[in-house]
Amino acid sequence: MEEVKKTLYSGVQPTNNLTIGNLLGTLRSWRGLQEDYDCIFAAANMHAITVRQNPAELRQKTLALIALFLACGVDPEKSIVYVQSQVPAHAELCWALNTFTYVGEMERMTQFKDKSARHADNINMGLMDYPVLMAADILLYQTDIVPVGLDQRQHLEISRDIAQRFNNVYSPTFKVPEGLYPKMGAKICDLLEPTKKMSKSAENPNGAVFLSDDKDTVLRKFKRAVTDSENCIKYAPETKAGVSNLLTIYCAFSDKSVAEAEREFDGKGYGDFKLAVGEVVADKLAPLQAEHNRLLADKAYLEKVMADGAERAYKLARKTLSKVYKKIGFYQV
Ligand code: TYM
Repeated sequence: MEEVKKTLYSGVQPTNNLTIGNLLGTLRSWRGLQEDYDCIFAAANMHAITVRQNPAELRQKTLALIALFLACGVDPEKSIVYVQSQVPAHAELCWALNTFTYVGEMERMTQFKDKSARHADNINMGLMDYPVLMAADILLYQTDIVPVGLDQRQHLEISRDIAQRFNNVYSPTFKVPEGLYPKMGAKICDLLEPTKKMSKSAENPNGAVFLSDDKDTVLRKFKRAVTDSENCIKYAPETKAGVSNLLTIYCAFSDKSVAEAEREFDGKGYGDFKLAVGEVVADKLAPLQAEHNRLLADKAYLEKVMADGAERAYKLARKTLSKVYKKIGFYQV
């Protein structure tokens, strides 16, 4: 008998330049997860437009993101790789789920508060509705597992709440998903402000290491990274945020434990340490960049992957949406 695998879903917004935080928080786990789960990976372009985007750039970044998924080892024969806006059921389910979500709880979401502060001139309804669309993404596919970084935990919790509310009012309709957070790298911090998360939209680009950065840039950014005045390479996130963040990055990229890394750098200075972190990151990014560029040169192939993925996703999504529409009493075509 064929083994039934659990369903895993994750997405990334095709905005700005992706950072090593995106890689360590989720992307790099995708290759291995495909062995154990039926995986669905989305370019979340509907989420992206909650902040104003340049259309040509959005289109290009969407294609580049699909290429990046593949460069990270996602196999489009095995997993579904698609673009969110190509499956209309996301917007449709979002609408239904909106009626199970309270304005007050959306106003309290950390990301909504952050983005409202940063885009005070454009606090649009989409920005506030962002978590409900994310819940729709996840719930449409009867997802069991959602691998994400810690910054998405609050959104995942609300997705679970919304699923449970709907299930309680009608009857079990949605699976209630679980988050999966990496042991090392669930929250990579900014190199210049190490108590803040490293972000694609960082004000100062020197605080974030982009996946597209060349070796010189990577080394320069790590060289400038904020540490402390102790000259002691120990993992202590509460008191030594900068050094601990660098150790996390070093361990995640070199597959070493914190204890091993601390031993390796025992007695060494911050200069040597930062150089070593920069080297390991740049050396790991180089083959990823090469593969990304190779894939980007084949637009026809990428568009085929997107079209196939959308078709497969569409069928699965339609099934759940149809179930939902039946329960809420909608006529269907
Ligand atoms: P996005 O595009 O902001 O980020 C993509 C993924 O990267 C993780 N991440 C980080 N992990 C560790 N350290 C960091 N500094 C860091 N910065 C970002 C994020 O946690 C995320 O896993 N809303 C999502 C996209 C999305 C989605 C979904 C995810 C849309 N629908 C459904 C899961 C399921 C987002 O904005 O990710």
